[in-house]
Amino acid sequence: MQALILAGGEGTRLRPLTIYTPKPVVHIVNRPFLYYQLELLKRAGIQEATLSLSYQPNKIEDIFGDGDKDLKIHYAVEASPLGTAGAYKNAQQHLTQTTVVFNGDILTDIDLAVVIAHHRERQAAATIVLTPVENPSAYGLVETETDGRVRRFLEKPKPEEITCNTINAGIYVLEPHLLNYIPAGDKFSFEYQLFPALLAASEPFYSYTMSDYWLDIGTPQRYLQANDDLINGRLKSFEIERHPITTATTAALSADAEPAKVDARSVVDSTCSLKPGVEIINSVLGANCVIEERVKIENSVVLAGARIGKAAEVRNSIIGKSAIIGRNSKVDGAALGDKSSLTDYSIV
Ligand code: GDD
Ligand code: MG
Repeated sequence: MQALILAGGEGTRLRPLTIYTPKPVVHIVNRPFLYYQLELLKRAGIQEATLSLSYQPNKIEDIFGDGDKDLKIHYAVEASPLGTAGAYKNAQQHLTQTTVVFNGDILTDIDLAVVIAHHRERQAAATIVLTPVENPSAYGLVETETDGRVRRFLEKPKPEEITCNTINAGIYVLEPHLLNYIPAGDKFSFEYQLFPALLAASEPFYSYTMSDYWLDIGTPQRYLQANDDLINGRLKSFEIERHPITTATTAALSADAEPAKVDARSVVDSTCSLKPGVEIINSVLGANCVIEERVKIENSVVLAGARIGKAAEVRNSIIGKSAIIGRNSKVDGAALGDKSSLTDYSIV
């Protein structure tokens, strides 16, 4: 069993977070996003994964290297994006066995071992995981027969084309002979080309409908949602590490100063500095953030190295790495890129 993670997209819809950081390693609760996918692979006993990269590949390779003793990591880098199936073909030297393929922007706690068993029992050539959503128009709509065989695959359906609520969750199990359907070196898509071709060729193409947590983290709103879901324990299989806030992390308190308050859901990296009177509610703070006196942060993600000035209020927002928020600013519903700078008293 092997795995391929498609992590070559530019992450345009997640800008500004993806200008200096490729989407697969944008931090979610203080870990690079792909960490959560690699964990799922390890739990299913998969020992070898290939990361298919195109946009800023070095930044991803620097983080994951060769992997670890449980999971060896290879890389397949495209000079220019080859599309989802083109990326699979481009990695073929590493893919000689049944392969679990993952879209690199899916946060889930699916048990992959169950999906693999389902694939094997049906002797499928391809198994696609489905998840129900309210509005399938931003996804790949998948119609199935009563026995779970895929009947139709329709990427980004128009409103009048929506016939069911099950969509492609971006997780597949594929047999290596399917690589023969894909031309080498050309742009090719799973969604628009390979899947319709498998149906036309009557390949045994099955679905597995999941009921576990699933989210595509591709927009700032969903990025915030992913962090919120993780810290609120909505993913059963991920324990969140909460470093206790020690006196070392709260800056020198004078006897009458009110200490910083951090609620039980928030995750604050132990290298942060929280000044007196700070209040952190349902939020995530990355490494080395400096939070000045009386700042209030609620339902937000503050990425590493950001500095929030005195008495500023940050709600429902993403604050990019090393951003500087001036004192008394009020930021609500914003996504500020890395190194953003707001002058004192800004209202965003
Ligand atoms: N290596 C590589 N090369 N990876 C790519 C390329 C490429 O040319 N193009 C896209 N990817 C990666 C992206 O990085 C992402 O992880 C994944 O493939 C899917 O691309 P998205 O751009 O995020 O597609 P989407 O979200 O609009 O739709 C896809 O995901 C939905 C589920 O979230 C489709 O697979 C839909 O059918 C599916 O429902
Ligand atoms: Mg996506």
